[in-house]
Amino acid sequence: MKLVKNLLMASAVSALVATSSFASHHGEKKVDMVKLGEKIFITKKMGNCLACHDVNGKNIDNPGSLGPKLSGLMYYPDSYIYDAIYDIYKAKNITTTAMPAFGKNGQLSDNEINALVAYLKTVN
Ligand code: HEC
Repeated sequence: MKLVKNLLMASAVSALVATSSFASHHGEKKVDMVKLGEKIFITKKMGNCLACHDVNGKNIDNPGSLGPKLSGLMYYPDSYIYDAIYDIYKAKNITTTAMPAFGKNGQLSDNEINALVAYLKTVN
């Protein structure tokens, strides 16, 4: 009986170890996604989002932002932000806007949009 108990303990401990190493791996991956998202956001040849959206008080000296300041997006579901970047026309049910449908028109990949979502969830 004691042996069984010890075996159970051992497997519980290894399960815990496995879970926590997964969690930290997952956490690192998340940081990478945020960094990638920020890069896409501010890089002209990638998303160029900063051209139209002020974020965290950052902006580029443009003649006036075409898009709204992006803030408080951490309160929105990931899917809302994803859909807005994938195809703003469909997401907002509008027919004209300055923002390109980045996913639909193939400008940004699924992974790049997910990175933008991760980044936008960190801005105030
Ligand atoms: C040419 C200007 C322009 C560019 C570039 C642009 N946007 Fe937009 N964006 C807009 C406008 C305008 C809206 C408002 C849409 C509407 O309702 O007409 C908007 C809306 C959004 C929204 C929805 C905000 C809300 O509160 O519902 C998100 C999220 C967003 N943009 C993210 C991005 C990201 C990420 C990029 C870069 C990949 C980007 N935008 C590039 C102009 C732009």
